[in-house]
Amino acid sequence: MTLSGHSIMETNHIDTYLKTLSLHRISQIYLQEAENAANTKLSYQDYLLRLLEQQVLSKIERSVNRKMQLAAFPQVKKLEEFDFSYQPKINEQLIRELASLTFLAEGKNILFIGAPGVGKTHLAISIGIKAIQARKRVLFFTADQLTQNLATAEVSGRLNSVLDQLGRIDLLIIDELGYLSLSKQTAKLFFQLISKRYERGSIIVTSNKPFEQWGEIFSDDVVAAAILDRLLHHSYPFLINGKSYRMKQITKPI
Ligand SMILES: Nc1ncnc2c1ncn2[C@@H]1O[C@H](COP(=O)(O)OP(=O)(O)OP(=O)(O)O)[C@@H](O)[C@H]1O
Ligand SMILES: [Mg+2]
Repeated sequence: MTLSGHSIMETNHIDTYLKTLSLHRISQIYLQEAENAANTKLSYQDYLLRLLEQQVLSKIERSVNRKMQLAAFPQVKKLEEFDFSYQPKINEQLIRELASLTFLAEGKNILFIGAPGVGKTHLAISIGIKAIQARKRVLFFTADQLTQNLATAEVSGRLNSVLDQLGRIDLLIIDELGYLSLSKQTAKLFFQLISKRYERGSIIVTSNKPFEQWGEIFSDDVVAAAILDRLLHHSYPFLINGKSYRMKQITKPI
């Protein structure tokens, strides 16, 4: 008996070899692609090329999905969904340049400062997603989660190893800095993290507090100034003083 002109035995062998080599995508499509290739008189090379392309695409897709899970974004927000006309103070061209990720290669930071609902988290996540699509490792934390992790690591004697790990990833996103104040002790841990990544790895920070009020966040003007100095040196600060997008979504009473 034949299947597309080949014996079942041959097909079984092919399936076994593809499985052994973990070429799962090819295994799913090679019979159908062979039929298409025969119908369209595709050359052997082009048939092989099609199979390999599909396998590579599936590998990239799995790697992107894995990185998306590891990044722990609270929601998926795409740059394509951001309405720049609603927030005209934001330099759209610069955001698009940043989304092409040159800032990562240069180890520069991005700071989104502004009132609630102006799109800080949305922009931070969407640039993070662009970085993942370029196969970079990204981690998203709220400032509160991050400082709690650092404090727990310190108590259990793992601070240096956690700082090393956070120092190595390609892009660290710290969201909502300023909604909760840090104790002097946690502010120092935060400072250690910022120093670790300084001029080595990029950070995106979002905050509702203008820089003049960062002393309040860290309960210490000196530590706040040291943190700000390092974050701002080689950075792209965006001060977004527009309307909340959440207000736009509230239906007006008649
Ligand atoms: N310009 C915009 N275009 C499309 N959606 C937007 C825009 N700005 C904000 N949004 C959406 O509005 C909601 C609030 O935005 P976001 O969470 O980014 O605000 P935020 O500045 O981080 O506010 P907060 O300080 O309260 O955390 C989100 O669902 C976001 O996707
Ligand atoms: Mg936010």
